[in-house]
Amino acid sequence: MENNQHHHDFFVIKAKENGVHVIGLTRGTDTRFHHTEKLDKGEVMLAQFTEHTSAIKVRGKAVIFTRHGVVDTDE
Ligand code: TRP
Repeated sequence: MENNQHHHDFFVIKAKENGVHVIGLTRGTDTRFHHTEKLDKGEVMLAQFTEHTSAIKVRGKAVIFTRHGVVDTDE
């Protein structure tokens, strides 16, 4: 698990409005929310996929930067 490079991928989320939620989902057979971070307009969160986090869900208007490209949830 620790050698999996994908766990070290960083992503950046920039909120375009108040109250954007970044929700972390657990790795493994049990997929559930484990953390919700609330961002206000202009706030930026840098995070990684980890041993504990295999997916994220972003709710609200934000720009998400990953090594695969940029996604604007508003477009
Ligand atoms: N404790 C979490 C972890 O190590 C922290 C975390 C990392 C997180 N990436 C995240 C929380 C993405 C929410 C979204 O996995």
